[in-house]
Amino acid sequence: MVLQAIKYSRGQLEILDQLKLPHAEEYDHIYSSTDAWHAIKEMRTRGAPAIAIVAALALAVELENMKLSPIAEEVKAFIDEKLEYLITSRPTAVNLADAARKLRKVVDAAAARADASGSNVKNAYIGAAEQMLVNDVQDNEAIGKHGAEWILTNTDTSRNGQVSVLTHCNTGSLATAGYGTALGIIRSLHSQGSLKHAFCTETRPYNQGSRLTAFELVHEKIPATLITDSMAAALLRLKGPTENITAIVVGADRVAANGDTANKIGTYSLAIAARHHGIKFLVAAPRTTIDLSTKSGKDIVIEERPGKEITLIKGPRHDGVSLDLNVVETVSIAANGIGVWNPAFDVTPAKLIDGIVTEVGVVEKDSEGVFHLDGIF
Ligand code: MRU
Repeated sequence: MVLQAIKYSRGQLEILDQLKLPHAEEYDHIYSSTDAWHAIKEMRTRGAPAIAIVAALALAVELENMKLSPIAEEVKAFIDEKLEYLITSRPTAVNLADAARKLRKVVDAAAARADASGSNVKNAYIGAAEQMLVNDVQDNEAIGKHGAEWILTNTDTSRNGQVSVLTHCNTGSLATAGYGTALGIIRSLHSQGSLKHAFCTETRPYNQGSRLTAFELVHEKIPATLITDSMAAALLRLKGPTENITAIVVGADRVAANGDTANKIGTYSLAIAARHHGIKFLVAAPRTTIDLSTKSGKDIVIEERPGKEITLIKGPRHDGVSLDLNVVETVSIAANGIGVWNPAFDVTPAKLIDGIVTEVGVVEKDSEGVFHLDGIF
């Protein structure tokens, strides 16, 4: 069975509630942009590409099911206002803002036509939003192929042509429309028999690695091991038959024009550790994640989340022997009264990144150490 974070048919949208994974697979109906805003903010749906697609499709569903004005300009104004609102749900991932910009362009063009009507504008919007769902899966498959090829060409394959890789956070089917970005590369290596082993970090504080990536790896029967974030550097030092990492692959929430990359907190530490150990460090992201209007990482706004994500932990009751899925408990794991800093993302400087894997190929730095990302648009 294919893992699906987003289920869509015209007029209907459901999202897999990622807060309940890995213990329960429950879908929530999304009827409107307000529902989507809350689902994104509460992280029931998450991951840069998935956020953008859920937001775009939620508005498509709302438009499909409501009684709209016959006047093109009024429908356009409604769409503009809703897109503006959706963008405010989470600030760091750029895919949503990029999707909103592209959708606005389509709507502007439809509203400017001589035969413009409310329903033409609505149909133009819905068609473009639906196309984003299709494109994201295709782009991820291409990222998987390019990334796997790059790793097999640029890293040590002397162990029967196989490599072991480490990944961080969740970048798979759950974070995208399907297949995944960095996890798509792992999927691609595995499907061609070139993956010895995948390692995934727990990814504190939200545990996207242990809850979601581990869930996807088990689901796909990919040989994999979970580590805590603090074990990564120790793992990179090992040269065993399985524990011999040749590349770290991560996703991105926003790649600035110079290649500086905002991604899940902990990515920066991994890039430093990779450089120290001579291990390749790859960022995998569709072009919708590349933001040429942001010059460098200094200009990226980093979302800060509530301290309770660090001090409290939530999950089904486990009595040391068995799990009781019917009882969800929240327990405190920190000293009461301690101050907390909880940035959701960090910025990895371009100089620590060996390649940016996109759907049109892998971008590497020139001889001066500069990425030319504008060349791929
Ligand atoms: O806070 P999240 O879970 O939305 O963060 C997700 C990540 O940082 C992912 O690595 C990134 O969005 C890439 S998803 C293909």
